[in-house]
Amino acid sequence: MFKRAAIAIFLITLVSANKRPPWHHPQPDPTPNPPCRFAPGYSLEQVVQNPEPFIQDVLYWEGKFVQPGIGSLQDNAANGLTYDGTLINQTTGLTLPYASGRHNFSAASKESLHIMLLAQALTSSPSAARVLSPSDPAKAPEIAFKLLEQKLDTYLDFNRTYPGFGGFLPWYNNTFTKIEPTNDWVNRLPALDNGELVWAVYAAVQALSQVPSYRPLAAKWQAWLDYNAAHSAKIFYQGQGKVCAVATLNQSLPPNDPGQKYTCEGSMLLNDPYEGELFTWYLYFFAPSLSPADKTALWTVKRPMLQSTTYTTPQGPITVQKGYWFSAHEQWKILEMPYYDVDIVRRVFNNNERARTCNSQIKHIPGMYASVNNITDASNQIIGYISAAGIPSIAFIPKQELDVITPYSVFPTLFANRSVGAAWLWNMLQGKKMQNPYGTTESERVDGRGVSSFVSWDSKITTVVALGGGVGGLVREKLKGEGRHGEFLRVVEREYGRVFKDLKGEDIDFCLPKARVPDAGLKDYTNCKAK
Ligand SMILES: *[C@@H]1O[C@H](CO)[C@@H](O)[C@H](O)[C@H]1NC(C)=O
Ligand SMILES: *[C@@H]1O[C@H](CO)[C@@H](O)[C@H](O)[C@H]1NC(C)=O
Ligand SMILES: *[C@@H]1O[C@H](CO)[C@@H](O)[C@H](O)[C@H]1NC(C)=O
Ligand SMILES: *[C@@H]1O[C@H](CO)[C@@H](O)[C@H](O)[C@H]1NC(C)=O
Ligand SMILES: *[C@@H]1O[C@H](CO)[C@@H](O)[C@H](O)[C@H]1NC(C)=O
Ligand SMILES: *[C@@H]1O[C@H](CO)[C@@H](O)[C@H](O)[C@H]1NC(C)=O
Ligand SMILES: *[C@@H]1O[C@H](CO)[C@@H](O)[C@H](O)[C@H]1NC(C)=O
Repeated sequence: MFKRAAIAIFLITLVSANKRPPWHHPQPDPTPNPPCRFAPGYSLEQVVQNPEPFIQDVLYWEGKFVQPGIGSLQDNAANGLTYDGTLINQTTGLTLPYASGRHNFSAASKESLHIMLLAQALTSSPSAARVLSPSDPAKAPEIAFKLLEQKLDTYLDFNRTYPGFGGFLPWYNNTFTKIEPTNDWVNRLPALDNGELVWAVYAAVQALSQVPSYRPLAAKWQAWLDYNAAHSAKIFYQGQGKVCAVATLNQSLPPNDPGQKYTCEGSMLLNDPYEGELFTWYLYFFAPSLSPADKTALWTVKRPMLQSTTYTTPQGPITVQKGYWFSAHEQWKILEMPYYDVDIVRRVFNNNERARTCNSQIKHIPGMYASVNNITDASNQIIGYISAAGIPSIAFIPKQELDVITPYSVFPTLFANRSVGAAWLWNMLQGKKMQNPYGTTESERVDGRGVSSFVSWDSKITTVVALGGGVGGLVREKLKGEGRHGEFLRVVEREYGRVFKDLKGEDIDFCLPKARVPDAGLKDYTNCKAK
């Protein structure tokens, strides 16, 4: 059931400093109420030439998922926290009844997506407002403020009941007003998802501090960050730069209780140079007990996996960062921290997207790959979770399953080239059933023979947050205010600079889609079809 947690375990998982903040894209007057099945109404050329009208429609419909009751708890027990996602009826596209369709569980990673969106909304980001409050964009900051207030209450309440997690979140069960660890995360805590959560909160604190009346809430969230940081090393740090992927603990005992003992589960370490790095940064900057030698070692243990490799195209070779699978999911860290401020990283990451887009074009694949839920079967069950989806030739793990593509695979492409990212999104949405009353659909088979009738934070809000430029801008400002931005740049430059020197393929164009998902007889959802 919790296959996505497995990513955390097996992953062992804009814009330069002086330009305008990335969320200030020129905004056309959006269509107030675009039709549900809007994608076929655009041509590829239209989207490439000016992706903004299409993007406005995407944001409007993804907003239907973010509403309480679909993506987060409403009922009579509102707590502001996310659900993983919801199954939808294979004919109509409407949500199945809660009891059969809703994934009541969720995790810190999905919380990070929600909080990034709320942080963007607090800065009056037009894209976040289009998602949260399309009929009255001016209300978006207040909606975001209220949700952040409610979320913090729920987090603090959880911390009081289960102090052993040290304020962090395990996979949780969101069935009732109060959350609980899911059955399989009792007394266990993952680092990767919490790394994603803490930097989203960090961005939200920065956004809240910019509005005088929101500063008291900023201070409370900052206290949450500080409290968690105070024992983050005690929970996860093993010494010699080693960080546990999953810690085992006694959830009833506070971190400083003499009976509390934190140990690493198995031998899995969080040593990946992908999204797991967000937790490394948290320890690096904020764990008070780490010595300078520990801090250096945090990066040394990660070096074996930070590698350069080459993707070969008819236009020539492209130097890229070797992927674990080269799943788009691995690039999550660019949503949260200002990696694009570092020139060599920006250039390598743009090359990654040259490879991602050209690989699919050359092989006539109608979309791109990221770890995602498989299709649903005739009885409305998700068949499984496909972790191993990316580009085998430039990955550590070449054994992959490449029968399913997903719209959110475009989120890192959007950072490299917004038009090209939007074009691939458009292309995947041409597939039957790939739009539903809550926006984009989870995933589809490349042969057009099935889709996943499911909607989730991972497969939707990664793209939404990327369309708003991520929260790297907010994180940059706060790092600067704390005098840490220079150190961030130096360490990133040092680590990437020792691996990447002469890049090949920077003059190769990003590739546009050439193949479409074939029509294999599926019918669009009755509540989301072209008129
Ligand atoms: C899906 O909706 C159709 C039409 O309303 C209905 O007949 C069918 O029972 C629903 N399926 C499920 C699994 O709820
Ligand atoms: C999810 O929680 C709701 C209560 O919020 C409950 O009615 C429903 O049965 C639960 N769904 C599942 C699949 O457990
Ligand atoms: C969530 O809580 C309900 C009620 O206690 C329980 O039946 C269900 O198995 C729990 N779900 C998970 C995923 O832990
Ligand atoms: C979490 O709970 C502990 C008590 O177990 C408390 O000391 C601490 O202040 C709480 N954290 C926050 C941020 O309130
Ligand atoms: C956690 O600590 C409490 C209080 O000391 C104890 O009753 C309980 O058995 C412990 N749980 C585990 C899993 O060790
Ligand atoms: C995904 O579904 C296909 C059938 O469409 C099946 O062959 C494959 O084994 C499934 N893979 C996983 C990981 O669920
Ligand atoms: C995006 O890529 C297209 C196709 O390679 C190119 O024409 C365009 O100039 C690029 N835009 C930017 C902003 O790099």
